[in-house]
Amino acid sequence: MTDAIRFLMCPPDHYDVDYVINPWMEGNIHKSSYDRAVEQWQKLHHTIKDHAIVDLVQPEKGWPDMVFTANAGLVLDKTVVISRFYHKERQGEEPYFKAWFESQGFTVHELPKDLPFEGAGDALLDREGRYLWAGYGFRSELDSHSLLAEWLNIEVLSLRLMDDRFYHLDTCFCPLTGGYLLYYPPAFDSYSNRLIELRVPPEKRIAIDEPDAVNFACNAVNINQTVIMNKISDNLKSRLSEAGFNVVETPLTEFLKAGGAAKCLTLRVTEPIIEDRHAATQLESRTVCLQGHLLDAGLINRALDLVVEGGGSFQVQNFNLGEQRQSTSSAQIKISAPSHEVMEEIMSQLIDIGAFSLQEDVQDAKLETVHQHGVSPDDFYVTTIYPTEVRIAGEWVRVQNQRMDGAIAVTEGLSGPIARCKLLRDLEVGEKVVVDVMGIRTIRKAESREQRNNQEFGFMSAGVSSERRVELIVEQVAWEMRQIRDRGGKVVVTAGPVVIHTGGSQHLSRLIREGYVQALLGGNAIAVHDIEQSMMGTSLGVDMKQGVAVKGGHRHHLKVINTIRRCGSIASAVRQGVITSGIMYECVRNDVPFSLAGSIRDDGPLPDTQMDLIQAQQHYSQLLQDTDMILMLSTMLHSIGVGNMTPSGVKMVCVDINPAVVTKLSDRGSVESVGVVTDVGLFLSLLVKQLDRLTSRYDAKTA
Ligand code: ARG
Repeated sequence: MTDAIRFLMCPPDHYDVDYVINPWMEGNIHKSSYDRAVEQWQKLHHTIKDHAIVDLVQPEKGWPDMVFTANAGLVLDKTVVISRFYHKERQGEEPYFKAWFESQGFTVHELPKDLPFEGAGDALLDREGRYLWAGYGFRSELDSHSLLAEWLNIEVLSLRLMDDRFYHLDTCFCPLTGGYLLYYPPAFDSYSNRLIELRVPPEKRIAIDEPDAVNFACNAVNINQTVIMNKISDNLKSRLSEAGFNVVETPLTEFLKAGGAAKCLTLRVTEPIIEDRHAATQLESRTVCLQGHLLDAGLINRALDLVVEGGGSFQVQNFNLGEQRQSTSSAQIKISAPSHEVMEEIMSQLIDIGAFSLQEDVQDAKLETVHQHGVSPDDFYVTTIYPTEVRIAGEWVRVQNQRMDGAIAVTEGLSGPIARCKLLRDLEVGEKVVVDVMGIRTIRKAESREQRNNQEFGFMSAGVSSERRVELIVEQVAWEMRQIRDRGGKVVVTAGPVVIHTGGSQHLSRLIREGYVQALLGGNAIAVHDIEQSMMGTSLGVDMKQGVAVKGGHRHHLKVINTIRRCGSIASAVRQGVITSGIMYECVRNDVPFSLAGSIRDDGPLPDTQMDLIQAQQHYSQLLQDTDMILMLSTMLHSIGVGNMTPSGVKMVCVDINPAVVTKLSDRGSVESVGVVTDVGLFLSLLVKQLDRLTSRYDAKTA
């Protein structure tokens, strides 16, 4: 039986490390010893010959990696798919391998020119011949997998490689006789690991650790119960022997310098084949279009990165570059993913950045019925802040109440279907929800070059200090607040207690008094400390004028809370003359509505604080209706909440001393949000000064 097994090898006559196309080759150019390489190769050759027949292909000068015959092609029965090398350094090997297979009477399949696939280096048969594991991510393109399935009439399972040291599947994955699998899990993404775990039962999985992995323990030649490899730890050796395998070590250090070992140096040309197999793959492809300032706005990079990072692959099928500064570009991109699940994940992100399906591919949105109050069918599309449309019965319907992190509920209205963003908790039984990613598009305004330039890059460009940057933003924000006030628009402020602690209270009070603020959103704390300051002159017990802690001052805020509780509400405390200044005072006096959302601390709460968070959220979102601008002042969670409730198109200014908070909150596209890393008290004082300047007559001395 053994003599029926054949391998193809290529003597190392011209082997050397001549270039770098994988991390192992780095620093090893011309560092391998020819004599030692020959000796190691011959030893491997002999070892294999003890178990099987070895055919040789003639080595060719100028193609040093030709020794790695695993990359010649992928063989199943009498059919071979010839490799298409990713790197030009190896492409010259293709015709020689092809000639060899033809001379042996194989049916030869060739992939399209621009579709890399590196043979048995990236495709390994389950040793029972049931299916083919195929790798992608570095050398082989995902799209080649569907052709493998078709040509070899076999089920292909795609695995994504993540670690560039393990750039070929055979460097980290080795199916063994009896359904065993020797592999290095960290080399794969989590989706692939799950797939492996689904197919290979736990008692058959032999996961190895990094020290064995970097010795190429997975790059092993398995012939029946024998496993031949470069080097192995004692521990792994005994695990393999428990599973019934006999390990033969044969040093291949000279070939490791090129990133290959035992398995790479061989190609099994008699592969087991079972009769009742069928072509199958989970692979899915879709074509999407993108339009806008694809290059200027970096949209095309974002889209392609999304695809690759998400585990898919792409092919740009068409790219029309807008030639004038103002003209937009368009691209048509074919996306492939190893499964529907991964495709959905990628597509929903592409939809979020404005990608849409080709006209002829457009389908209606998929709807599923809600069966339990407050629970959506799985797979629902999660909404964003961007204007969204869904296709129902051939018509695009605009989604109402656009907000982030909701589901799209569809109901039948009098004049046709109505689509609405709804929070999960508000979904009602019988309602339909959009699932999957079909028939959904978001409408993104094309950000022009100019807008981007003066928003972000202008400020960040060299020579602008961070103080100057703050000043520039303050100037711009003041200008816009002034305009909003003049046209009767709406500015909402969400603020944390830091506003008070940093001395910003008087400034925010003024903004409210002078009509620049139309609603205030906060928690219990901002109101408590604001009132503490106005009644007792301290903020959390610190004297705001002297900047020193007052004896017993840490109890001040509780006394204040108690007083307001006696009054019944902040408004009646104002009316009774208990509160005579400050932010809350100005809100009451100027009829500026406020909402104080909960507290987990036992600071009261104030009678006005809404302790039912769902109610508080509803109140927030009511106050946020039709807002033109939101100032987010040092309160991360309230700001995130506010951001989620607000559709795109609303200007946001986020001020925090912590850069991480600012980055998190201003991640909504550069046109809409400005982040300022600075002390919030200082920011407010600059803002008030600037507004004064805009209001008072031009005066050469102060300007
Ligand atoms: N230097 C070769 C390359 O980078 C090594 C190939 C190893 N072959 C393998 N099947 N893993 O292409």
